[in-house]
Amino acid sequence: MAVEMSARLALTRRPRRLRRTEAMRALVRETRLSPDAFIYPLFVCDGEGVRREIASMPGICQLSVDEAVAEARAAKAEGVPAVILFGIPGRKDATGSAAADPDAPVQRAVRALKREVRDLLVVTDVCLCEYTSHGHCGILEGEEIVNDLTVEHLARAAVSHAAAGADVVAPSDMMDGRVAAIRQALDERGLEQTAIMSYAVKYCSGFYGPFREAADSAPESGDRRSHQMDPANVEEALREVEIDLAEGADIVMVKPALPYLDVLTKVKARFGQPTAAYQVSGEYSMLKAAAQRGWLDEPRVMLETLTAIRRAGADMIVTYYAREAARAL
Ligand code: PBG
Repeated sequence: MAVEMSARLALTRRPRRLRRTEAMRALVRETRLSPDAFIYPLFVCDGEGVRREIASMPGICQLSVDEAVAEARAAKAEGVPAVILFGIPGRKDATGSAAADPDAPVQRAVRALKREVRDLLVVTDVCLCEYTSHGHCGILEGEEIVNDLTVEHLARAAVSHAAAGADVVAPSDMMDGRVAAIRQALDERGLEQTAIMSYAVKYCSGFYGPFREAADSAPESGDRRSHQMDPANVEEALREVEIDLAEGADIVMVKPALPYLDVLTKVKARFGQPTAAYQVSGEYSMLKAAAQRGWLDEPRVMLETLTAIRRAGADMIVTYYAREAARAL
């Protein structure tokens, strides 16, 4: 049957008019992605000239301090304004004492980055899991992570990062009261300009798997359910954010990102505060693995997921795709 060319619907609204050309689509675009919003994670280890690729995270390496400087410099040149540092210490013990060591990889990297990469914003992850021999995020008494004692150790670690020159410290442990304790410890030492980005809403997620290989931080036994949040809860997420803001958090984070976009939207809508999302290792590895098999168009899904995270309410995104996305934009 021939197409009826004279057919005309009497429509009052034709939304397709605004999708006809790229110029028109750009004009009405509601969410704009810019590298300004990206924070690039770096895993820093001892040694020199070390670039050890993480098998489950293609393109991401454990880096010695000199290589971390080179990587951050390249990222900055591509438009990425910030990095977040994770440490792979040379020694681990039951209390994670290397976490506050001024000569451990993170503290040395902070000093080197602030000295050598102009205007780079340096964030540090504050947690004990990379530093404890048992891989838990705190000090153990039997099987139990002791909250208040752990908080003391976290505050010491945060102070050592800030004293090295970190612009932002980012506690990721999910202990109670750590934002207040860190704020107080920083202020007492004249570090009142150091900002706190709290991993306020961190779910107990299977998507951290590849990170634990990257940071060598998998718990020896047990899991993180006693402190990280149940994926089923969202009211609890809002309570966590409320508490962390009251304790003095400057930025609150939701993590992981894509499986928790609803949580991100609610946090941003309810509090209207600077809000970060962490596109975690598993989110990155999934896209990489599918792309390597030719099952997904990687540049496309990379920008699609980052746009979705921004659209849902994130002001900034911690992402392993920071450099690739900055280059694509
Ligand atoms: C804890 C920390 C973790 C991540 C960031 N900070 C791991 C965990 O809670 O087990 C995960 C990040 C990722 O998966 O990319 N220091």
